[in-house]
Amino acid sequence: MSIPKRDTAAEQLSEYSEEHEDNHDKITTTWGVPVPEKDASLTIGYHGPILLQDYNLIDEIAHFTRERIPERVVHAKGAGAFGYFEVTHDITEYTAAKIFSEIGKKTPIAVRFSQVAGELGYPDTIRDIRGFAIKFYTEDGIWDLVGNNAPIFFVKDCALFPSFIHTMKRNPKTHMRPDYDMFWDMITLRPETTHTCLIFFSDRGIPASFRKMHGYGTNTFAFVNAHGKFFYCKFHYRSEQGVENMDPKVAQKLAGEDPDYHLRDLYNAIENEEYPSWKFYVQIMTPEQAEKSSYDPFDDTKVWLHSEYPLIPVGRFTLNKNPSNYFAEVEQIGFDPAHLIPGIEPSPDRMLQGRLFAYGDTHRYRLGVNHLQIPVNSPFKASHFARDGKMTLHSQGGAPNYHPNSFNGPKIDKRAKALSPVIPLHGEATRIDNGNDDNFTQARLLYQKVMKDDEKDRMIQNMLVWLKPTKPQFQDKAVKMFSQVDQDLGKKLKIGLGSSPHIDL
Ligand code: HEM
Repeated sequence: MSIPKRDTAAEQLSEYSEEHEDNHDKITTTWGVPVPEKDASLTIGYHGPILLQDYNLIDEIAHFTRERIPERVVHAKGAGAFGYFEVTHDITEYTAAKIFSEIGKKTPIAVRFSQVAGELGYPDTIRDIRGFAIKFYTEDGIWDLVGNNAPIFFVKDCALFPSFIHTMKRNPKTHMRPDYDMFWDMITLRPETTHTCLIFFSDRGIPASFRKMHGYGTNTFAFVNAHGKFFYCKFHYRSEQGVENMDPKVAQKLAGEDPDYHLRDLYNAIENEEYPSWKFYVQIMTPEQAEKSSYDPFDDTKVWLHSEYPLIPVGRFTLNKNPSNYFAEVEQIGFDPAHLIPGIEPSPDRMLQGRLFAYGDTHRYRLGVNHLQIPVNSPFKASHFARDGKMTLHSQGGAPNYHPNSFNGPKIDKRAKALSPVIPLHGEATRIDNGNDDNFTQARLLYQKVMKDDEKDRMIQNMLVWLKPTKPQFQDKAVKMFSQVDQDLGKKLKIGLGSSPHIDL
């Protein structure tokens, strides 16, 4: 697994050079004026100070000092690629979304893979959930499916998301991570984290490659069909490369030798025309089934059992183009779960509800109020009444900037109106902690029925790596929590911790 001497990514500049043999471009300032000298600043004599008049120098330095924008508060390190989605099966009985309107229909997509907790320069091969976000450039505008490589998440009320993320990030005083006390304190105080912990510490916690992992929309969404009928749904994408994970020891070595291992793997595969692809599925639940479900279908710490809600094939997507510039097309891409198209709606999933606010808000901070005018985020066409703001690129000409108007401004799309669901809401506005809503049944199914014995053993070893450095009080609580999944699991953790200097057996 050592880095090949000259891999495809390493040839990028040589390829540029070959393709631009007769490049006659001249160096200019950023405003396009030819520059007379690039190797020396304008000084008074050989040792003299530099003149303020050297505005070419100032242009370059002033741009350089502004090169970085705030990095994403989560999912900062990632890789992106472009491709297309193709419908292979008819699901128009469930949704009128135009993207699914006919078999064979193709829609351009952008995908970004990421890790959750590390910063922009973090090594790729650490234990973490991976982000797997898809931007569909549909004829009805942008649809963002901002998923992960896990079908569930640690917490289920968006109110707990910032705190949970804090426990995975750096300790605010020491600036070091991981801080095992922060992590296990929160995990054991919120046992709804149990189910996702089993995935986090399993082999899937370190994928071998972004190409070799499945993806999930994770939260519950809704479909509306052409007759206005409403269904709840979950999205799944399954890797056609198969699933492959990485031995933690190999991962640790690579973290030092090739911190960009996953980026390199994806970039090289696409450059070498080994285009990765995924099959796309949905699970469907009717509102009547949702009412009667034995578990909360809007709880993102639970899966919808495949035996009850089978995967329905929909399509396939392929990534066949690397970004032509990382910053422009990956650092500046902004996904937003609130970007839904007619035929696809949110559900009452509490985590999703919080996400509907969070992403647009962070993009306005990170990328600016006009982030949707950046080419990678831009829909094919948009006609609305928002105007101006920093970095306005599209003006919409002289179209009226107010509604209603009598001057032939854009009109309401009747189809979109017909497809917006009427949501029957009832109940009192109140704050109900849903954290103790059967946190162990599905975790038990995963541990006892899905995981093979060798997988269980590796998961326990991985848990012990994180549990041993924490305080005995959190070790004890974790043993108790995981014992509720399976007595044997609890026992094995307790025995494993016996060798820890902290554990008080
Ligand atoms: C209320 C809960 C949540 C909040 C407040 C939140 C917030 C955020 C924020 C602020 C970003 C950075 C976006 C950017 O700067 O471009 C982000 C990225 C992301 N989040 Fe969440 N998130 C939440 C829950 C989740 C959940 C449950 C998932 C599971 C699918 C998820 C998946 C992602 C992914 C994949 C990205 C990376 C998108 C990209 O590649 O640019 N998030 N989230």
